[in-house]
Amino acid sequence: MVAEYSLGPHGEKFPLPAPDDYAKEFERLKVLVSQQRSLGREIVVVMGLGFVGAVMAAVIADTEDSEGSPTKFVIGMQRPSTRSYWKIPFMNRGLSPVKAEDPEVDTMIHRCVTEKKTLAATFTYDVLKLADVAVVDIQCDYVKESLGNIRDGETKMGPLEESLEIIAEHIPPETLVLIETTVAPGTTEQVAYPIMRKVFRKRGITNDPLLAHSFERVMPGKQYVNSIRNFWRVCSGINGEATRRAVKFLKEIINTDEYPLTVLDRPIESETAKIVENSFRATILAFLDEWSLFAERNGVDLIKVIEAIKVRHTHNNIIFPGPGIGGYCLPKDGGLGLWAYRHIHGFEDEIFKITPLAIDINDTRALHVAQLTRDALRNMNRPLAAAEILVLGASYREDVGDTRYSGSELIVRRLTEMGAELRVHDPYVLHWWEFEKQDEYPSATHSLKRFFRGQEKLVNLRVEQDLKKALCSIDAIIFAVRHQPYLNLNPDEVVEIAGEPMAVIDCFGILDDATIKRYFELGCEVKGLGRGHVRRIKDRVREEREQRYLKTAGSRPLISDRRRRRNTSVGSRE
Ligand SMILES: NC(=O)c1ccc[n+]([C@@H]2O[C@H](COP(=O)([O-])OP(=O)(O)OC[C@H]3O[C@@H](n4cnc5c(N)ncnc54)[C@H](O)[C@@H]3O)[C@@H](O)[C@H]2O)c1
Repeated sequence: MVAEYSLGPHGEKFPLPAPDDYAKEFERLKVLVSQQRSLGREIVVVMGLGFVGAVMAAVIADTEDSEGSPTKFVIGMQRPSTRSYWKIPFMNRGLSPVKAEDPEVDTMIHRCVTEKKTLAATFTYDVLKLADVAVVDIQCDYVKESLGNIRDGETKMGPLEESLEIIAEHIPPETLVLIETTVAPGTTEQVAYPIMRKVFRKRGITNDPLLAHSFERVMPGKQYVNSIRNFWRVCSGINGEATRRAVKFLKEIINTDEYPLTVLDRPIESETAKIVENSFRATILAFLDEWSLFAERNGVDLIKVIEAIKVRHTHNNIIFPGPGIGGYCLPKDGGLGLWAYRHIHGFEDEIFKITPLAIDINDTRALHVAQLTRDALRNMNRPLAAAEILVLGASYREDVGDTRYSGSELIVRRLTEMGAELRVHDPYVLHWWEFEKQDEYPSATHSLKRFFRGQEKLVNLRVEQDLKKALCSIDAIIFAVRHQPYLNLNPDEVVEIAGEPMAVIDCFGILDDATIKRYFELGCEVKGLGRGHVRRIKDRVREEREQRYLKTAGSRPLISDRRRRRNTSVGSRE
């Protein structure tokens, strides 16, 4: 039999466990746990070592009492699939299975595994037999079947339901099960509770499972750890005892003194809080999409308009949307709400208007970037088909390496469909799996690839780390993400490296007016999402050029005063 491997991020092969490894692994864990119990530590199992679970596990493992002694021993549990098994040996070496821009993630995991010895990882579900607390951090996806229509999709409950059943089969009756996964509202009481209760009854356990929900608000990026430990939490249990245990646990691991805990009456309220919070954010972002188009067509710089509005503290969370709203949560969470209304609670009517519309707008906003690129190239008399286009930034937001549902992916896909040759640079992303493994990522049937034609060659797309190399001989450059290294690029250097003027597309208000002006002076064409004022800058550059020409040639103006006034007073439809 050929051994199966899980490939680590640097290409190392980790053989998957064989059937008789499970019993040995459980023996190892029993020894570890009995040592830890003798030190008075609570045993916590974190299910799912993904973006949230891996860091949450370390935050819990780092917990200390007032004398500085660790109070928890944490075992991260991860399914031994070919895709994810490597995370277990990785974590047991003290290495983080998630790439984070917050240096505290690496140091905390290393400290807890190798120094404090309060953190380990395993592949066996038997570990649940040893748990005082089981924290559920596995995914609950919402899968969309069309582009720009969230109603055409469904919640993938399978992995969560399966893991809840497994948890109920293994845990001692008094184990607290804290679901942190963002779920369809109603899941804890109407899906998790019946599943677990049934298994408990089969096991002859008469008490109810101690189930509670408390959602994560973790923000990937430089504040990763802080956004778990030093941030407000909401929680609720299915009964008084579950709530009491959840509150006690959260107060021990999170800074609830400075960030007080909100305890809600029922888990559906905690679950709804998460969905409403993210739907609200998705909505305020989507709201600016139409104003972004208005700005482009009427000579308005939406970036400056937003800054002018933000000075009112009642409006200081107005935020420019960039080329679409990515990340794992905002594109899907509203869908979980819609789905729950029908499939958990049994309603037939369509009460949701704003939430689905917002997500649909966000999901397709990036396509407009391809139109701007096409138009800018056309103004330079260069066809888009076969143009070499560089996208700066693959991730969904600034200074993080998370590419899930990034606007950049759609930009690359649409421009490729239109015939362009794409390159990408991102200092935080080594592999853009959405392309490199587009036939299996995020799953075999759900790559965004299926909504576009001519995508096959994109498996060869590699993320360039050398910006100079990426810039050579390009026809267009798309500033897609506000990564730090892109904020102050010098136009003279960019054009010099590229070898000739190019189309410049600003998707995120990255270029200030002086920079835009310089690009025009260098012979580039500039366009931007929500940046209708670029036409004014272009006209000014043209005028200045004319003036210089007139001074030297002493001839008549090339355009009439009337036309000049018309050009400088309003924007253009170009
Ligand atoms: N990523 C974020 O920024 C973020 C922020 C807030 C909330 N959340 C929510 O947190 C939850 C987890 O998100 P994530 O980003 O960590 O997802 P993820 O996909 O990175 O991680 C989930 C992990 O669970 C594992 N898993 C699946 N089934 C399992 C099982 N039966 N047993 C053990 N492990 C199993 C997967 O292999 C994977 O490693 C989601 O509900 C998400 O919406 C995520």
